[in-house]
Amino acid sequence: MKILHYEVSTKTNYLNPPYGGLGSKNMDKKLIIAIDGYSSCGKSTFARLIAKELNYIFIDSGAMYRTVTLFCMRRKYINITGLNTTGILSELKDIHIDFVFNPDRNEYETFLNSENVEEEIRSMEVTSFVSRISQMPEVRARMVELQRQIGVSKGIVMDGRDIGTVVFPNADIKIFMTASIDIRAKRRHIELKSRGVNIDFEEIKRTIIARDIADENRDISPLRRADDAIILDNSRMTVDEQMVWIKEIIDKKRNGS
Ligand code: DC
Repeated sequence: MKILHYEVSTKTNYLNPPYGGLGSKNMDKKLIIAIDGYSSCGKSTFARLIAKELNYIFIDSGAMYRTVTLFCMRRKYINITGLNTTGILSELKDIHIDFVFNPDRNEYETFLNSENVEEEIRSMEVTSFVSRISQMPEVRARMVELQRQIGVSKGIVMDGRDIGTVVFPNADIKIFMTASIDIRAKRRHIELKSRGVNIDFEEIKRTIIARDIADENRDISPLRRADDAIILDNSRMTVDEQMVWIKEIIDKKRNGS
C-alpha cells in the first residue's frame, strides 16, 4: 500500500499565530521546541503556554492521531474485536485535519473534515483506541510529513511522543516530560470530572499504564527520550514553576549558551 493512497490536509494560519506573547518582543531567532513524554504529563498544557509566551505556533501532534482514530471509529474500522486495515487505508485520503483558531477560547481547535471534533477526540473511547491507530506505519508516515511541513518556518512548539527523535531530530530545544503514575492519574481524574465524565481512579491508572506500554513498545517510533533531551519531572511542580524553568532554558538558547 502506497502512502499516496490517502491524503491528510492541514490548513491553518500557521505563519501568523495569533498569540501575542511577552517573549515576542526580544525574539529574533526562531526556535523549534519539541516536547515529548508520557501521556497525561501535561505536555499539551505546557507546550501551549510556551507557544503563547513566545508568540509561536503550537501543534498538538496527539490530536492528529486522535482525529484519525475518531474517523476510523465512526466508520467501524476499529472496535474491541480488531482493526480493518484495508478499510482504513482505502479511506485515509478522505481524512482532512485542520487546526482552526477560536478567538473566543484563544486556542486552536481540531477539525475533522470541517467538523469541530476538539471535544470528541478527548473521549475515553478514542483514548482507548488511539495507540492501535498510531502504530500504523502509513498513518505515522503521513503525520510526520505534515508535522515537518508545519515546522518548516520554525517558531513552533510541538508536543507528542516522537517529536525530538523522529519529527525534528534537530530541534533547538528538546524536553522529555515525565511524572509519577499516581500524579498523572490524579490529574486526568480531575480533568475528566470537570468535563462531567465519571470514571474510577483505578481504571484511569490502568489506561495510563496500558498506553505507556503501547507507546514504549511499538515497532515504529516508540516513545523514548532523545539523547539530547532535557528531562522534566513535573510531579511536584506547578505550571508556573515549569514556565520559569523553561524560560531560563529558552533564554540560554537564544543567547547562544
Ligand atoms: O498526547 P496524546 O495523549 O493526545 O496522544 C494520543 C496518542 O497518540 C498516544 O497514545 C500516542 C499517540 N501519539 C504518537 O504516537 N505520536 C505522537 N507524536 C503523538 C501522539
